[in-house]
Amino acid sequence: MSSSKEVIYRKDYQEPNYVVKSVDLAFVVEAESTLVTARIQFEVNPKQDKNELFLNGVDLELVSIELNQQQLNANKYDLNERGLSLHDLPDAFELKTVVKIYPSQNTALEGLYQSGNFFLTQCEAEGFRKITFYPDRPDVLAKFTVTIVADKEKYPVLLSNGNKISSGDLNDGRHYCKWLDPHPKPSYLFALVAGDLDYIEDHFITKNNNKVQLRIYTESKNIDACDFAMQSLINSMQWDEERFNLVYDLDEYNIVATDDFNMGAMENKGLNIFNSKYVLAKPETATDQDFINIEAVIGHEYFHNWTGNRVTCKDWFQLSLKEGLTVFRDQEFTADLQSRSVKRIEDVRYLRSAQFAEDASPMSHSVRPDSFIEINNFYTLTVYEKGSEVVRMYHTLLGEEGFQKGMQLYFKRHDGSAVSCNDFRLAMADANSVDLTQFELWYSQNGTPQVYIRENYDAGKKAYSIDFMQAAPDNYKGDVAWQPMHVPVKLALYDNEGNPLPLNDAGDLQLTYELKEISQTLTVNGVEHQPIASLFQGFSAPIKLHRQIGHKELAFLMKHDTDSFNRWDATQEMQSQIIIGKYQALLDNKNYNCPKYFIESFRHILLDDGIDSALIAEAITLPSVKSLTLKLAKVDVLKLFDAKEWLIKEIAYQLEVELLSVYNQNYDSSDYRVNSEQVAKRSLKNRCLSFLLQSNKKEFAGLAKDQFIHAGNYTDKMTALSLLTHQQVDGFEDLLGAYFTEWQDNPLVINKWLSIQATIPASDTLIRVKQLMELPVFSMKNPNAVRSLIGAFCGANITQFHAEDSSGYQFLADQIIELDRINPQIAARLAGLFNDYHQYNDEIQHRMNEQIKRIHTTDGLSPNVFEIIDRAVGSIN
Ligand code: TRP
Ligand code: ZN
Repeated sequence: MSSSKEVIYRKDYQEPNYVVKSVDLAFVVEAESTLVTARIQFEVNPKQDKNELFLNGVDLELVSIELNQQQLNANKYDLNERGLSLHDLPDAFELKTVVKIYPSQNTALEGLYQSGNFFLTQCEAEGFRKITFYPDRPDVLAKFTVTIVADKEKYPVLLSNGNKISSGDLNDGRHYCKWLDPHPKPSYLFALVAGDLDYIEDHFITKNNNKVQLRIYTESKNIDACDFAMQSLINSMQWDEERFNLVYDLDEYNIVATDDFNMGAMENKGLNIFNSKYVLAKPETATDQDFINIEAVIGHEYFHNWTGNRVTCKDWFQLSLKEGLTVFRDQEFTADLQSRSVKRIEDVRYLRSAQFAEDASPMSHSVRPDSFIEINNFYTLTVYEKGSEVVRMYHTLLGEEGFQKGMQLYFKRHDGSAVSCNDFRLAMADANSVDLTQFELWYSQNGTPQVYIRENYDAGKKAYSIDFMQAAPDNYKGDVAWQPMHVPVKLALYDNEGNPLPLNDAGDLQLTYELKEISQTLTVNGVEHQPIASLFQGFSAPIKLHRQIGHKELAFLMKHDTDSFNRWDATQEMQSQIIIGKYQALLDNKNYNCPKYFIESFRHILLDDGIDSALIAEAITLPSVKSLTLKLAKVDVLKLFDAKEWLIKEIAYQLEVELLSVYNQNYDSSDYRVNSEQVAKRSLKNRCLSFLLQSNKKEFAGLAKDQFIHAGNYTDKMTALSLLTHQQVDGFEDLLGAYFTEWQDNPLVINKWLSIQATIPASDTLIRVKQLMELPVFSMKNPNAVRSLIGAFCGANITQFHAEDSSGYQFLADQIIELDRINPQIAARLAGLFNDYHQYNDEIQHRMNEQIKRIHTTDGLSPNVFEIIDRAVGSIN
């Protein structure tokens, strides 16, 4: 393992010395090792005009090297653990290398590795250098031809990018397949799969009348669980043609599912590789959320074909160019196919609890970072989710038509090349003849901007005004002083009966007001009485809003706001106020009673037939402890947890009858389908059940048991099992045991079983987790298992991870250190769970910091874990 901790800076970007005209790769795949022959045609880049070249190469056994068909003398190149330097090169030449690699020993799951009994690759971001010597950077694009040779019986399926151009049998029981990808691409989009896999097949006819063959490959035991993914792929192709006018550009599209994968999925050209969690689903074994996630991830990877592959990134600092944009596109896809309001609420809920936390942490970075040690650490919520919010703001400012004009210009200018976030911004600006210079700050300034507002109604002048003041995030880290951003504020005003008021002379009832200054005032004239404002509708900018707002105004907005997002947001704000009120009281040892108005408004929402069940379900889901933590400082997290639990119990006691009746009304025994109506009913019903179980009454435990036994679908079954387990209702161990016996051969199902147990809020859970780690269904080598057990315990079991004896912190540190030797990427993800230490009170911080420092002083850390932990240590005061 390389021990280099070199920092890479965006400002040091240099064009490549040589470009690649074409690459021809040949793989001879065998059980123990694989031989890779690369023939690469290089041509000097006239802009650089240098006759030397560095090729990345890591963990490669060099067998031979030839330049223009001549064996290359050892004094003509330098080889170290990072790669190969060549000197005195001609302007054009062919390099041929043969290397040997050992995929079955590769536990980092980067490069070529083994999963079950097949081989596959993961090259983004810098995995190709573990396959062959190559300029492994995203701005070197080339046409790839790939030949794979392997034993026909053991490895009947041989896949790579592009279209298959030939195949056949060799003597000695081997066969070969040859693939050509006509679209020039960077090495990170290369993929190869070899093994014994089954597939399902369908096709899609593009609007250019090209028939595309679609296949999904899995191990044969899973072949009956791919149909939903296939339909999702077809939906994605259809949607991208309709909404973005983007058409697929090869004759085949292949997806391969694997149980061993570091992330969600990978958009390799024509050959996507997926974590099986985002492909496999049957009604008996997948929840509603699983189905919805599959559709979204299949969409995401498909949409990358244009936003990522046809137009790619100049360097890895531009990652959000493809990821922010593609997340925006997948969010819109889900919004168009499912419920737009629910999708927006869920995305913002996630952003505010997880991305805002990252923004406030030692890992805080801008959407386009300026430096990194390990790029894999920057596949973050900031790059993905905040990046998507940044793209959404163009859409808000320019409208759908203007945004699509920008997209067209972007493709017209940059198809087939590697570009930057700036190029995207300029395409949006130029296509619409607007100035988006200030908008650049969304890419360069880290942290969550804050907006303070002051409202003023002048009854005499009948004028209502809002002063907006922008402020820097607390942890802004830029070299130059923070500057105010270009912030779109979508807003409306209502009179006291809930009628929208005209906002200007044109009579607009809703408008997008653009903040550009540190402080700016919007005045609306002709307002007869004190109005109520709905601000940042649809969460029109990823900022933290500081607004003094009372419960009457919140109740008003819950009722009258035409913006469904802000109606929901008002419910969350009221709930936060109550939980924080209780929390303060717990800290001060004072009494705090749940206000009557709160219960009344909660009852009103719960029983409102005028609102969609899905939105009721969202409205009665209380804010996460994480998002509440971010509103406070020096948090006693166990007390905050107690405050939230107290509110859940208050609601359960006071609204028992209502919750039960909504539960019963939404019990649906019709045939299971994943449509928005059924999904909404199930989610509302199950949220009611979770409140009811908190009242600790036997009859409700019985209700959950009935649901577990009689459920006709997996969502209901899993919810019931999880609630019974978390409440440790009599007999829950037997239910878990029976579940295990039934599903032990299905890793996806077992991972849920692990997570349920990892999140039991009881003092013996850590012991249980350690016992579960001993079972054969758990392996440190499998990222999904690690996330489901260790990740769930440390990330989602607040009371036990934060146990006062520090056992949770010690456990996490131990696991990070051990896992780092197996899979540094996943170890670094776990290390990120320490990043919120600074949100807590001194005593908690002290105990977390002990463990952070212990990891920091461990020898031989990977650059991945080192970077995360070093940043954390660096910000300990
Ligand atoms: N580009 C992939 C996506 O977002 C994600 C990705 C990056 C990835 N690096 C990875 C996936 C490593 C798996 C393993 O669609
Ligand atoms: Zn992506």
